[in-house]
Amino acid sequence: MTMKDKNILLCVTGSIAAYKSIDLYRRLVKEGANVEVIISEGGSNFVPPFVFESFGESVYTDDAFKYPLAHISLSKFADLILIAPATFNTINKIASGIADSLITLVVSASSDTPKLVVPSMNSSMYSNKILQDNIKKLEEYNFYSMKPAEGGLACGDIGEGKFPEIEDIMFEIERVFAKKVLSGKRVLVTAGGTREYLDPVRFLSNGSSGRMGIALANEAIKAGAIATLISLNIEKSCHYINKGIRNIECRDFSELRQALGKEFKKTDILIMAAAVSDFSFKTKSSKKIKKTGLKKSLEIIPNEDLLKMLSKEKRKNQLLMGFAAEDAGILENGIKKLKEKSLDYIFINDISRNIIGKDENEGILIKKTKKGILKKIFERQAKKMLASKLISEIGEKT
Ligand code: CTP
Repeated sequence: MTMKDKNILLCVTGSIAAYKSIDLYRRLVKEGANVEVIISEGGSNFVPPFVFESFGESVYTDDAFKYPLAHISLSKFADLILIAPATFNTINKIASGIADSLITLVVSASSDTPKLVVPSMNSSMYSNKILQDNIKKLEEYNFYSMKPAEGGLACGDIGEGKFPEIEDIMFEIERVFAKKVLSGKRVLVTAGGTREYLDPVRFLSNGSSGRMGIALANEAIKAGAIATLISLNIEKSCHYINKGIRNIECRDFSELRQALGKEFKKTDILIMAAAVSDFSFKTKSSKKIKKTGLKKSLEIIPNEDLLKMLSKEKRKNQLLMGFAAEDAGILENGIKKLKEKSLDYIFINDISRNIIGKDENEGILIKKTKKGILKKIFERQAKKMLASKLISEIGEKT
């Protein structure tokens, strides 16, 4: 999913958060969107049109009479009407069918265009029943709306009403545009790498960052799924994980095994993107082992293959997807693993191509179909993009 060539009409209304719409505007442009801007009279008190004009944007002021027929041309232009920030006044006016400004006029002329409302105001205004009823009403009319963020507000109060993070708004926009190929499906994704502890500080692990699994969980949400992520030793501050994803944190193989045992039966699709250790230490010390106490060789025991174990319990309509890390005999090994683990899909990463821990990935998807085993090559691309394509592939089969 990309913003490239999407036409976005950004409507900025008079919340103190209006200045944040500049960052939103710049991010949309950076992602390749064509943006037109309308600023309401209230909005221009906080962010003068001149600011947008400095970025080369010609801004419409919110005057119903200044630009003849602009409400029609803008409604034809827009793939999405984004009202961000949206004030108490604007939301209530739209819900009441009032069309007395350019913003409300465009909305009135755009019944079929997706509309995303991003409320931002004091928390007591946000919780006001009039507003809440009107947000519900707009949702019934197929408007999309975001919940504001919680935190310190401009007036000093603390509560729900803050303009959401730009990253969250971008996610919602992409969600609006995404095909709902996994609507209502429960998707379970594992991401990161297990750590097999020898003692409280030493462990056996791998270099998996969890990026691919996180991207898959995010894309599953956009595609309409209910997503759960089992994250293994992921540096959460380094990644965007959508707030709609339920996150279960595990550290080692046995915690992962336990979490999967509990979650798998509730799931429709399991995507095992995690790098799971094939071994654990035979003995694990609860206290840090002194270096003088370390043996020259450490005894390891094999871990059970979790995918193999789960595929035996698999219901007929459950889908299983594995990932494989290979540096030789890629296709043969991938097909062998698909068969041995009874998977519907396996994505094979060619680790000789320097992909571990990177933002990009490439590889071959092998899928079991009625026509036999098929393969599809994915060129090197951002993990987010690849995840979106893999989710579409899975969506075809559900
Ligand atoms: N996997 C698993 N249980 C394990 C090891 C791996 O379920 N004990 C899953 C991984 O999450 C991945 C897939 O199996 O989806 C393939 O993992 P990979 O490590 O490439 O394959 P292995 O079967 O462990 O084989 P090898 O390491 O020998 O290549």
